[in-house]
Amino acid sequence: MKSPPLDILIMAAGLGTRMRSGRAKVLHQLDGLPLIVHVCRAAAQLQPRMIYVIVGHQADEVAAAVGKEFTAQTVRFIKQAQQRGTGDAVMSARIALSGSASTVMVLSGDVPLVRSETLAALLEQHRAATNPPTSCTILSVKLDNPTGYGRIVRDSAGRLLKIVEQKDANEEERQLREINAGLYCFDSWALFQALARVQPANEQGEYYLTDVPAILSAQGLAVEVLLHSDAREVSGINTRAELAEFENLRRRSAIRRLMNDGGVTFIDPSNAYISSEAQVGRDTVIYPGVSIEGKSYVGERCEIRSGSRITNSRLGNGVMVKDHCVVVDSEIADDCAIGPFAHLRMNSRMENGAVVGNFVEVKKTRIGRGTKSMHLTYLGDAVIGEKTNIGAGTVTCNYDGKDKHQTVIEDNVRIGSDTMLVAPVRVGSGSVTGAGSVVTEDVPPNTLVAGVPAKVKKQLQPEEPKRAGNRQ
Ligand code: UD1
Ligand code: CA
Repeated sequence: MKSPPLDILIMAAGLGTRMRSGRAKVLHQLDGLPLIVHVCRAAAQLQPRMIYVIVGHQADEVAAAVGKEFTAQTVRFIKQAQQRGTGDAVMSARIALSGSASTVMVLSGDVPLVRSETLAALLEQHRAATNPPTSCTILSVKLDNPTGYGRIVRDSAGRLLKIVEQKDANEEERQLREINAGLYCFDSWALFQALARVQPANEQGEYYLTDVPAILSAQGLAVEVLLHSDAREVSGINTRAELAEFENLRRRSAIRRLMNDGGVTFIDPSNAYISSEAQVGRDTVIYPGVSIEGKSYVGERCEIRSGSRITNSRLGNGVMVKDHCVVVDSEIADDCAIGPFAHLRMNSRMENGAVVGNFVEVKKTRIGRGTKSMHLTYLGDAVIGEKTNIGAGTVTCNYDGKDKHQTVIEDNVRIGSDTMLVAPVRVGSGSVTGAGSVVTEDVPPNTLVAGVPAKVKKQLQPEEPKRAGNRQ
């Protein structure tokens, strides 16, 4: 018999009071991504007909966070007007889901480590029995410290009697170590008719989704519990301490993988922050206090010194990143060196063997092969050729107060110390600017310019060895 289609519902409307935060809990980040995005990713792996995210607190921000990665063809949002409990959250999807019979998987936006394999196992178990079909399958787990969670209460034959929340549990029930992970599969029809019967007659005055299984079994419908073995994977995040613990786990496993499988050296593995989406090549050495964030790629034989951050960037082989550099959304080709204290951002690119030194900021700029900019410089909206030298204190004056303009510096150029390049401007290949020049007009190839504003001083022979108007 063909299974009914799968829809996945992710509850993410709560504020998360125990986080003591002005931000909705599901927007807090784990491994550089909002909690809700982790859950959406796991859900999307099952290729459901549709994922619905129930939003409430900071609904627009939550939708925006999810929308960065998923289109409306995969994920839709349903507003829960008031946060009256998890039962009410699911109820707000009733109209969206009541079109046809389906399997509804319900997930919590604050259970971010759950793996798609686990969800697939839950779905498989739910669909296994067909005669009679299972109306509800609950994922459970045993915890050493179950405090705070809903407990699974079974009868003497081991069948589910009910789920009882911490606040409503009696002493005996509180001793139970098997808890509700907050991940379920339901038959859609069974779910919504039972939800209509849920009353907020409990300690918190909320509509509990966790009352549904007992209602279904009282109706004689089959309810199953799938006991999962990995407690960590399916425990939710309710507090900042739990968030930090999960972050630490995630980070440690990313670093262990890089050391054991990837041949990467960490001087101090407990003091490096590597996103689990990052890749690092063999024989690269990572010093303490380094962060590699997002989808970054670092090649082989690189050295990343202390205090540097690499975010969504790509580094080739043999790249040297000295202390305290920031590299964001940029690319550094093989055998380049940067830092200490260098900053690359907004699609900057360094070609092979280029060097950027102390206190140099590079924005939206391409630096050609073997070109050097060693000290105290701003290069923004520039295209710089090969084997060029940029003197200390050079500034591309790219902003006229209204618009940004481009600076082009061709090959084999010597830009003298403290040169101001007033964009838009081009310096031709083989040219030289004197120290302290303010270049306001294009400089033809093989020309020495100097002064304020810079004037042509002399033609240079292309083969003449060029010396900048300063020493580097
Ligand atoms: C819930 C379960 C508990 C289980 C635990 C597992 C209930 C009543 N209890 O408790 O049995 O052990 O998860 O982690 O379901 N939410 C909404 N709208 C609301 C209320 C909550 O969307 O009106 C969302 C929250 O944003 C959160 C999720 O539902 O993502 C779970 O809510 P939460 O308040 O964290 O439930 P727990 O108390 O952890
Ligand atoms: Ca929770």
